[in-house]
Amino acid sequence: MKTAVLTGVGSDLEVRDDIDIADPGPGEVRVRVEASGVCHSDLSVQNGTIPLPTPIVLGHEGAGVVEAVGEGVASVAEGDHVVLSFVPRCGECSACRRGQPFLCEKAAMQAAGGLLDGTTRLSTPDGALHQMACLGTFGEVAVVPEISVVKIAEDVPLDIAALIGCGVLTGVGAALNTASIQPGDTVAVIGCGGVGLNVIQGARIAGAERIIAVDKFASKLDMAKQFGATDLVNPDDGDTVGQVMALTEKGVNVSFEVIGLQPTIMAAIDVLRPGGEAVIVGVPRMDVVLELNAAFTFLYLNKTVKGCWYGSADVQRDVPKLISLWQDGDLKLDELISREIAIEDVNGAFEAMESGEVARSVIRH
Ligand code: APR
Ligand code: ZN
Ligand code: ZN
Repeated sequence: MKTAVLTGVGSDLEVRDDIDIADPGPGEVRVRVEASGVCHSDLSVQNGTIPLPTPIVLGHEGAGVVEAVGEGVASVAEGDHVVLSFVPRCGECSACRRGQPFLCEKAAMQAAGGLLDGTTRLSTPDGALHQMACLGTFGEVAVVPEISVVKIAEDVPLDIAALIGCGVLTGVGAALNTASIQPGDTVAVIGCGGVGLNVIQGARIAGAERIIAVDKFASKLDMAKQFGATDLVNPDDGDTVGQVMALTEKGVNVSFEVIGLQPTIMAAIDVLRPGGEAVIVGVPRMDVVLELNAAFTFLYLNKTVKGCWYGSADVQRDVPKLISLWQDGDLKLDELISREIAIEDVNGAFEAMESGEVARSVIRH
């Protein structure tokens, strides 16, 4: 089968069509991946921000059709349409049992770049290939854990479904699950890419009255407005915190950082009014540390700083919920797809993401 392979940090992805894929083992399914979004986290593996072993098949935002199932698989069958979840959900571990399946303990092996047992189902004549997030949706076909797929109706277009797998679940989930936005609140969203635009529409659904979008590209601020932002801030026009403070009386109730940089994480905390909540969605480099005045931040100004992993989602609950929000016209998903591309254009999609040209590029296999 054909895929793009990252051979080492900093290298361009290499398209190869000589990949061997093993049959699904017990508790695994083989999925023909029809569509895969290109997310910043894929780029973050390529540039070393997110450390994963190489060679690896990237891609963690996909949807497709089940081709075969391994022994003991009962929840899906051949022909089912599925969204691929980048965090497995076992339903049995202590995190799953306490309602936090986005922290499922079965995800522990993901850092090793394999499936649940740490091994991988992909290889070339030169050796094994790792799979990002137990998936690897840049491949035409993926063997993944059964607990990484969510069955969906066949009338949902698979390019739309693919985006739900990461950007939409993460962004909308940050607003609806992680944060505690109250109707009438003022929020700030720092970073308006594929994930940030979904935070904006999640905040709108949660009833935020003012949504201040912050991005360094005017093109992204235009998109932010289309997704529900009421105020636009470009850091090129002056300090972000100063601009947000000028727009609000005392700062915002809830802020979201959706980039993963130290200065913008600090800005998300600094733009909060007393009692405000900062939600950190962007994934920073492993060496980023924050320096905060503990007494002011947490006590006198009573701010909360929360991490948001996978939109604090329960994929079995939230995937159908997001699909019906889209069907009812409350969630813009078609508008997130700026370009549909072939796998051969994946390096160009990384460049288009960095230059602010696209909300999302979607690979059609
Ligand atoms: N100031 C303001 N905006 C910035 C800055 C900055 N210093 N740096 C980047 N941006 C903007 C970009 O212009 C872009 O619109 O942040 C946005 C990031 O969006 P994408 O590159 O599309 O990334 P996305 O896929 O949305 O992911 C965002 O969430 O899941 C994580 O790993 C992912 O950390 C990444 C973040
Ligand atoms: Zn992602
Ligand atoms: Zn679990």
